[in-house]
Amino acid sequence: MNLTQQTILITGATSGIGLHLASRLHQLGNQVIACGRNQQQLDQVATEHAGMITYLCDITDDSQRRDLANWATTHYPTLNMVINNAGIMQQFDLTQSVDSTKVMTELVTNVLAPIHLGSLFIEHLQRQSVAALVNVSSGLAFTPLASVPVYCATKAALHSFCLSQRHQLRNTSVRVFEIIPPAVGTNLGHQDDYDNSKDELMPMNDFIDAVINALQTDTYEAAIGAADYLRQERDAVFDLINP
Ligand SMILES: NC(=O)c1ccc[n+]([C@@H]2O[C@H](COP(=O)([O-])OP(=O)(O)OC[C@H]3O[C@@H](n4cnc5c(N)ncnc54)[C@H](OP(=O)(O)O)[C@@H]3O)[C@@H](O)[C@H]2O)c1
Repeated sequence: MNLTQQTILITGATSGIGLHLASRLHQLGNQVIACGRNQQQLDQVATEHAGMITYLCDITDDSQRRDLANWATTHYPTLNMVINNAGIMQQFDLTQSVDSTKVMTELVTNVLAPIHLGSLFIEHLQRQSVAALVNVSSGLAFTPLASVPVYCATKAALHSFCLSQRHQLRNTSVRVFEIIPPAVGTNLGHQDDYDNSKDELMPMNDFIDAVINALQTDTYEAAIGAADYLRQERDAVFDLINP
């Protein structure tokens, strides 16, 4: 997919992968709409990126997701790429009873929100001659890290969903990408004291280069760096049951 002069909305654009991807897409000459749930951070993003649009939206809130889609499609009729990047990662000790509210927050953020946002934009995207839905999953979708079990399960669910979404949209103008990151140094899990000092981290710039390359070369399922090792073989079976 050509990555200049597109109109691109990205969630979770106030830090980490989302912020760096938004910044690179902005540099490449796209109209970027950066979404986040913290107005101060959004203001900083706008200040540092002249011309970038920002929008406040907590993606766990059903009405805020609907408002975002209505606002974006009304004000940016050329919008043709939606990147579901926002996500959280929490630790759970499964030898104890778990807090169901905490589990629900992770399920809603990482699974329900990208599914619902994709559906809210889908009619608009299909009216564009070229369009893309991009979902950010994780290498942990394939090989779980047991200390963050709900996170891994949500990313496995999102991966599965991408396969069906891509298949159902195969005869439309909407391409479905899944970006599968390896460990990259960000704030992910920090709210829950996750210590990533033992993780082998891919440098952010190298990671963003690989994401841009995947989008430009229509690599619809892009397992980047070490994430590729975590992925299982299953393409042939998918093709068998989905003729
Ligand atoms: N970093 C890695 O090693 C890694 C590996 C595999 C996959 N990923 C995936 O990459 C994506 C980006 O994560 P990251 O590593 O860049 O983490 P991050 O630095 O924590 O960024 C996550 C972003 O999502 C936003 N967000 C979280 N909950 C939200 C909500 N309810 N509404 C709106 N925005 C919300 C955060 O906003 P706040 O700052 O307000 O919380 C932040 O802007 C996630 O989907 C993650 O699962 C990351």
